[in-house]
Amino acid sequence: MRPRSHDPKPVSEIDPAHLPRHVAIVMDGNGRWARARHLPRTVGHQRGRRAVRATIRAAMRQGVPILTLFAFSSENWKRPADEVDALMKLFINALEKELDELDENGVRLTFIGERSRLDASVQALMDAAEARTAGNDRLHLQIAVSYGGQWDILQAARKLAERHAQSPLALDDPEILNSAFESGLATTGQPPVDLFIRTGGERRLSNFLLWQAAYAELYFTDVLWPLFDETEFDRALTWFAGRERRFGRVESHEAKR
Ligand code: IPE
Ligand code: IPE
Ligand code: MG
Repeated sequence: MRPRSHDPKPVSEIDPAHLPRHVAIVMDGNGRWARARHLPRTVGHQRGRRAVRATIRAAMRQGVPILTLFAFSSENWKRPADEVDALMKLFINALEKELDELDENGVRLTFIGERSRLDASVQALMDAAEARTAGNDRLHLQIAVSYGGQWDILQAARKLAERHAQSPLALDDPEILNSAFESGLATTGQPPVDLFIRTGGERRLSNFLLWQAAYAELYFTDVLWPLFDETEFDRALTWFAGRERRFGRVESHEAKR
């Protein structure tokens, strides 16, 4: 993920105190990018890879600890079989081609989603990539594949019910309930999403990290994913740095009145 000479100059370096701890991105707009150029949708997905690389570079340069990218949703299984097939091939190909460089750059790679729906060979590749990069700590890159926020909440609820049936927990205590539930989420142990980015102009969550983005700042841009780059990522971080986050409280200077 080394910077290349033709990459656009970054807008700015963000003050580390104002950096999000966890950025999640809905990488949307590949199909529209392709259609506008009279190209097959698949070409749009292929071009999206460039944006993924640029985004990873920018996250590393700025020092963002966790980056979660939405690559394929629970609902994307409903797309035509040839598009699903092409997306899976692209995913496998990207994983095989990029893994060395990611590892060399200290990136820890993990995946969240309903793995059992993926081919065994794909699952094996994912397991191997996770095992190989487990000791890296420069950036935690998390790819959501066959992921849905509702699936995540339901599987955490099921795990909690099973645990409780085996040995009852003090679930009347809200803190115990919360931590027991969160320990079953796919993102267990991670800070919540601070900055939720969606490219491609739609203003919806599309079943991404529903629980984890409860207090996320939402950044929507019309830029189609294949055109997203380091400058666009920096722009989102700059916008985030200017937000006042209240988490239900009043502004700090009003608290004493
Ligand atoms: C996002 O681009 C990629 C995936 C959902 C896999 P789309 O394929 O949704 O592109 P649009 O929204 O049709 O432009
Ligand atoms: C969300 O995009 C899923 C991913 C980017 C992987 P979609 O294009 O599938 O979302 P909708 O259908 O517009 O809500
Ligand atoms: Mg879309």
